[in-house]
Amino acid sequence: MLKLNNIKKSYEGTEILKGINIEVKDGEIVSILGPSGSGKTTLLNIILGITDASEGEIIFNEKNITNTSMEKRGFNIVFQDYALFPNLSAYNNIVYGLKNNNNLSTKEEVDELINLLGLENHIDKKIENLSGGQKQRVALARTLVMKPKILLLDEPLSALDGVIKESIKERIKKIAKEFNLTIIIVTHDPEEALTLSDKVLILNEGIVSQYSTPKEIIDKPKNQFVEKFILNQLNIKKNNIFSLFGGIYV
Ligand SMILES: Nc1ncnc2c1ncn2[C@@H]1O[C@H](COP(=O)(O)OP(=O)(O)OP(=O)(O)O)[C@@H](O)[C@H]1O
Ligand SMILES: [Mg+2]
Repeated sequence: MLKLNNIKKSYEGTEILKGINIEVKDGEIVSILGPSGSGKTTLLNIILGITDASEGEIIFNEKNITNTSMEKRGFNIVFQDYALFPNLSAYNNIVYGLKNNNNLSTKEEVDELINLLGLENHIDKKIENLSGGQKQRVALARTLVMKPKILLLDEPLSALDGVIKESIKERIKKIAKEFNLTIIIVTHDPEEALTLSDKVLILNEGIVSQYSTPKEIIDKPKNQFVEKFILNQLNIKKNNIFSLFGGIYV
């Protein structure tokens, strides 16, 4: 269980995050959804441990990790631009982090991930010869072989188009289930957040506008911002929302 207690962040006297309180259960997929500049990446970086909060506490499995270094927290992130090594093969990118930590994942576990992500036919290719969706999956595999305690993703799907987006969404869900892995995803796309996650954190100018399940957000938007920013932006009509959840409206 990850708990953020009253997390605040200021830059040069301006408060960017104004007291964030959330709980994330093990194995949950949580989306952080909000417009540009609302503080999504800042919040993700505070959880990861590369940015310090100005105030508040981060509790992970009952331990206060507010002042714990990023390495000791053991969370891991896939950055928006993937940051892959262009001259290495897909496989060597995936196992790169195991060089100095080869006990983290066995060869069998690496192969299992490669299969799970559907990369078996691409592992010998150089990064520059991969499609956007394949690069994204290599970046995911490279992070997952490190067995993060929490997986953080900053806009993982924004560069991908329709069909590939759907297939990666399905794989992310599968990974969360298979490994009981907590996943926190930043996105500015309401449809993506509502269809991918167990809970959605809607951020508006550094304030939590609503933190609920997709169903609650659709059925009971807490305020006008949620109505306007989330529901009005959906491409499909509210009464067709069933199809968003593949018919499983839970
Ligand atoms: N290091 C910094 N110094 C000063 N201001 C910063 C710094 N990092 C972020 N900010 C400001 O904090 C606010 C929130 O930024 P953040 O990157 O968290 O937004 P975001 O929700 O991720 O936006 P986007 O969707 O555009 O990525 C912005 O106004 C940004 O200019
Ligand atoms: Mg951002």
